[in-house]
Parts: sequence; C-alpha cells; structure tokens
Amino acid sequence: MEKIVINGGHRLRGEVAISGAKNAAVALVAATILCDEPCVIENLPEISDIAICLRIFKAMGADVQIINKHTIRFDTTRIREPKVPYELARSMRASSYFLGTLLGRFHEAYVPLPGGCDLGDRPIDQHLKAFSVLGATDDIQNGCVHVKADALVGGQIFFDFNTVGGTMNAIFAAVKAQGLTIIENAAKEPHIVDLANFLNSMGADIRGAGTDVIKIRGVEYLKGITYAVIPDQIEAGTYMVAAAASRGDVLITNVIPKHLESITAKLRTIGVSVEEFDESVRVCATDGLFIKTNIKTMPHPGFPTDMQPQMSTLLTLAEGTSTVVDDIFDNRFRYASELRRMSADIQVKGTVATITGVKRLTGAPVRATDLRAGAAMVIAGLAAEGTTEISDIYHIERGYEGIVEKLSALGADIKKVYVPSDDELAVSV
Ligand code: EPU
Repeated sequence: MEKIVINGGHRLRGEVAISGAKNAAVALVAATILCDEPCVIENLPEISDIAICLRIFKAMGADVQIINKHTIRFDTTRIREPKVPYELARSMRASSYFLGTLLGRFHEAYVPLPGGCDLGDRPIDQHLKAFSVLGATDDIQNGCVHVKADALVGGQIFFDFNTVGGTMNAIFAAVKAQGLTIIENAAKEPHIVDLANFLNSMGADIRGAGTDVIKIRGVEYLKGITYAVIPDQIEAGTYMVAAAASRGDVLITNVIPKHLESITAKLRTIGVSVEEFDESVRVCATDGLFIKTNIKTMPHPGFPTDMQPQMSTLLTLAEGTSTVVDDIFDNRFRYASELRRMSADIQVKGTVATITGVKRLTGAPVRATDLRAGAAMVIAGLAAEGTTEISDIYHIERGYEGIVEKLSALGADIKKVYVPSDDELAVSV
C-alpha cells in the first residue's frame, strides 16, 4: 500500500502552477461523445479519474491518442454501442455523465448505477427527471441504468435543488435535441460554464451558463475543436489553505481569481493575506493563531463543499470556536476523527462541526477517507509537529495531480512510500 509521509513544520515558499480542473475535465471528456469529429482537449489534469475515463473510452471502441501528458485527441465517432463497461464505470462517480452523452448521441444508454460513495448516498433522480422531460424513459437492467428515447425533444426542466451532475446531464441530453430546452434552477459552478463554452465552440447553442437559467437550442452537428480545460478552483484553494497552514508565502499561478473569491474572503477573515493578480494569487500567513470564523457551504458562488475539509483543518488552529455547516452531502465530516488523532478539537453532530482551536497539531497515522478529506490530512500534516503518515492515498490521487512533487518543490518534507499491508506481510512470513 502506498502512503504519504509528511514531516511537518516547514513553511511553504515559492510558486506552484495549478492543473486543469478535475470536475470540468471529466465532463468535457464525456462530452466528446457528442462531437461528430475528432477533438483535442488540452490542460487535462494527470489524475486517476481521467485515467479511468480513458480506459472506459478505449473499452467502448473510441480512439484515444495521448499527444502529451496534458493533451489528448479523442475520436469517439468509432463508438458503436451506448454501453459503458460495468466494473470500470463503478469506480468513478462521474460515469453518470455517460448517461447524458450517450443518450444525446444514440438516444439510448446503459450505464452501471453509480451507487453510494464515500460521501454517502448519491441519487440521480434529478438527472432522470431531466431526461424524462426530453422524452426518455428509464429502467434498471442488470445493475445498469437504461435510458431510451424515440426522439429527444426540448422542454422545460426545473431542478428541485442545485445539482451539478444533473445540470451537466441535462445539457448533454439537450444539446442535440429538437427545439429549445430551458433548465431552471441550474447549477452555476465554473465547470458548468466550461462545459457550455466547450460545446458552444463545437457549434452548440447554449446560453446563460453560470446563471440560474440555461437555454439550449438543439443543433444537429458538432464539429471538432481544440480546447483547454479551465484551472482547478479546488486544487488552487487547497494550495491556498496549505500555504496558510504552513505559515508560508506562496504564489499560486494558472488560476482564475474570480473562481476563488469565496475562498479568498474566508482566508482574509481568518487573518491570512491574499493578494490577487490577473492569473495568480499570493498567499502569506505569519505565526500565531488564526481568527475563528463560521462557514456554511453553498452551491457556487457560495463557499464550496469541496473546500470544507481543508478550511476546517485551518480552523483547528484558530483562536476560539468556529462552526462549520455542510449539508450538501451526508458524509462530509468523516475526516474529523482523523484530525482528532492529530490533537485537533473538532466535534461533529450531523451536518455541523464545532471546532475549538488548539495551539498546535501533532503528527499521527491517519487515513484519507475521501478525496478532499485526504487533502485536509495533507494540510494538517504540513502544519503539525512531527510525522504524519497518510494511508488510502488513492483517494487523493483521484483529484490532485503530482501533489507530492508540487509540495516538495515548495519546500515541504513530503514523500510517497510503499508500505506492505498486513495481508502482504502475513503472506511473506
Ligand atoms: N442529488 C440528489 N439527486 C440527484 C442529484 C444530486 O439527491 O439527482 C443530491 C446529492 O446527493 C447531493 C446534492 O444533491 O446531496 C448535490 O449533488 P450534485 O449533483 O451537485 O453533486 P455531483 O454532481 O454528484 C459534483 C462534484 C463534487 C461536488 C458536488 C457539489 C463532479 C464530478 N463532482 O458532484 O465533487 O462536491 O458537485 O459541488 O463534478 C469532489 O471533487 O471532491 C467532489 C465530490
């Protein structure tokens, strides 16, 4: 088993470049299924979620050419059947995007049920509601969601609540449907806007992405293009918090500062200096306790749930008591018990965490319970006295390109090590 080992207490200093956004990239890659010609995506992050997407594509018969480690040419015109292989798709939540893209192209899709995940139950009722507005029926066959439509015809979709995946899937299904689709109460995250820009560059007619109402007029043909994924808002936010937690001074480049506003505002409240430039931000923090604050996660432009574990970790070092409310998913505080091992004072009741600051965190063996929880453990390890050993790091590798290399270059004492698991040790005895 691989682990990340951190000897804490080193200030991060220097410059780090942010990779392409995971949550935009998985949507753009899936969207290539709708393109009638080969297309090239640049600035793809080198993370395991994208690697799984590529394996799914290859298994479905698409031609995937790696031009360089961040640039890939996709020819999905060779896909003949709207079926996603079972085992591969189950390892990736965003595989539900294949429902919308295959439905949009073939008017039919079989995709393994996403099921629950580390964040709790992940239903897709809103996705299916959107498809049904456009004329699709759905049923379950052999563990797969099966959606089918004789024809896709535009209509008015009203989401009951904000859903990123539901909005993505509604766009996928509507982009080549007949007539006008209106999505009300749409998600407004930067990756929704990136998807709309990607499809519009191919010739789609999508207006209003980034607002509550998205209007899509169906088109028949989407042409091949070359397009670069936006920078990752959450990776950038994670390095901002890491810089602060280590009392460092870091210039974070290749970012869109507008996407970081809610994170920047919280950091400033906590007493961290954040300077904004055109495509970079500089984060500096000095010694002493941070200032307590309260956080409530919200859909964009509110404070993102994907930054909650990292920012809560910083609050374990703030004077006084902070309250953090995160009810977007059921299970977003599983990292709290890991932080307690590191001397943090964090108590969780349901969707509310109460954090009372301590003077120092101490290194300990901890687990990455999910992707962002794993990022929080890295941040805690950088700030802590002593050695932190993080297991289950495959979660972290789903969404952070080269995190060990990037943090080492900033001066962290961090490395990835291979440690035989108890089972492997038992076999070798
Ligand atoms: N929900 C339903 N029914 C639906 C769809 C969603 O009940 O049909 C619920 C979810 O269970 C959740 C809430 O609505 O409680 C919001 O879910 P949403 O659909 O917005 O989330 P998602 O599309 O599954 C994406 C990101 C997540 C991020 C959330 C919220 C991708 C691939 N994933 O998930 O990213 O936390 O939006 O912003 O874009 C991560 O990157 O670590 C991550 C978990």
